[in-house]
Amino acid sequence: MPEAIVVDQVSKAFGPTLALSAVSLTVNRGESRALIGKNGAGKSTLMSILTGLSQPDSGSVQVLAEGDAGGASAVGCVYQRSTLIPAATAAENIALARFPRSRAGLIRWPEVRRQATELLAEWEYADLAGTPVEQLEPLERKVVEICRVLSQGPRVLLLDEPTAGLDRGASQRLFGHIERARARGVTIIYVSHHLHEVFEVCDSVTVLRDGRAVLTEQLTRMTVPDLVDAMVGEAAATAGGGLRAARPESARPPVLVASGVTAPKVNGVDLALRPGECVGLTGLDGAGHMQLAEVLTGQRPAEAGTVTLDGRPLPLGDIRGCIEAGIGFTPEDRHTSGYVPALSVAENATLNIMPRFANGFRLISGKKRDAFYSRLAGEWNIKAYGAAQPTEELSGGNQQKVVLARSVAADPKVLVLVNPTAGVDVSAKNSIYTTIEALRADGQAVLIVTTDDADLEVCDRVVVMVHGEVSAELRHPFTEGMIAAAVQGGGTTEPDLLPSGEEDSQ
Ligand SMILES: Nc1ncnc2c1ncn2[C@@H]1O[C@H](COP(=O)(O)OP(=O)(O)OP(=O)(O)O)[C@@H](O)[C@H]1O
Ligand SMILES: [Mg+2]
Repeated sequence: MPEAIVVDQVSKAFGPTLALSAVSLTVNRGESRALIGKNGAGKSTLMSILTGLSQPDSGSVQVLAEGDAGGASAVGCVYQRSTLIPAATAAENIALARFPRSRAGLIRWPEVRRQATELLAEWEYADLAGTPVEQLEPLERKVVEICRVLSQGPRVLLLDEPTAGLDRGASQRLFGHIERARARGVTIIYVSHHLHEVFEVCDSVTVLRDGRAVLTEQLTRMTVPDLVDAMVGEAAATAGGGLRAARPESARPPVLVASGVTAPKVNGVDLALRPGECVGLTGLDGAGHMQLAEVLTGQRPAEAGTVTLDGRPLPLGDIRGCIEAGIGFTPEDRHTSGYVPALSVAENATLNIMPRFANGFRLISGKKRDAFYSRLAGEWNIKAYGAAQPTEELSGGNQQKVVLARSVAADPKVLVLVNPTAGVDVSAKNSIYTTIEALRADGQAVLIVTTDDADLEVCDRVVVMVHGEVSAELRHPFTEGMIAAAVQGGGTTEPDLLPSGEEDSQ
């Protein structure tokens, strides 16, 4: 097979950080190569060098797309962070790379709309074509991004964590597209933290560790534990597991009580959360769990129902008011609303509690703040070279930890975490779970809104929503199979009647 991508001895440093160190790899035409590694291993850096977005310090890359006259559309990349234009519609964004033009050079808008609608229709999102991207939910935005790249019919397809934030259905649709692209001989590099996905989508794998390519192998010769070993290095490979045993129910009165909450996609939901309890909230895309989380955190008003915190009504629809009342939360999409990129890690982590560091002249004391930050950084194991480093320079997983650290900085009564480990590697994931576990043991009430089974494992109890209503409530010990059945509507509607294990469909 002819070579399609040749990376030769590529190095790239950012200040003191060596993101890539003499990386060499070759991907053949039609091959699907997984690129995996922990947060900060250098994956995204390599992807942006492959697209020409950034230049290596030394070494060379060649991307040889067959039949390519040097057109930009020969290589398509779904970047880890959104590259969509917020004010433009989904259709315009999809068509952006190559507007169909008339012979007079005018953009044929009806054609733009039709092509985009067709692509979106394959994802059952045809009705989004005319909606500005800034009004879309993160999942929808990701789909628009993927459609845009696929619409260019690239010969080389680079995907940087394309399924982060996608639900199972959308991920399966993406895999279908990838499969068809492969059948047409398209060359693929696929970055993911979901190792099982990698076996579904790829032939071969390259593992990056601390900027070095430490392993390249056919996937038929590898197992998930092999990949984990290569990612973390042998010494660290034995950590994890055994964190969560069944626990007694908390006897304390609930700190958060939602009753009859109704909002778009949410239909009369009751939910109670006790101090020291960690509850999971899950469902398929559109089931209403995300919208319920938005109501609970003040991001969306309720049409009916009430939510109380320590007996006092929460000012629904008022984000500030909810934070002041004692709700701490991390937004779903950390790259668009999670942090201010240019601010330092210390500033971002303490954004909500800045007034605490004011001195007598009402100026913020950088020293006090940095001291507070170092405590948070230790607690969350944030890897930055100092309190002053701009957050945009951190790897995705470490940015996530900054956002998480901020949500607990103000000592909230209830902590609502939306997809807390999206795009986070195995070891960062475990360190996030350990921190959540410690907070819980300390009496913190935690609500984890997620579709990640590993996140739900941390929870004492999982509330499953289907079509805007609570369809099931699973208590430890539950299995992935039970949750998978419940989100499809296959769970029990009588939570109290669910004996553990009976519904096990594995
Ligand atoms: N623009 C930048 N300025 C400074 N440092 C950077 C920049 N981009 C990346 N880095 C650093 O380079 C290293 C590699 O980052 P990269 O984003 O490639 O990691 P990654 O493997 O994609 O991680 P993740 O899985 O978290 O997305 C990290 O230590 C990161 O902090
Ligand atoms: Mg990355």
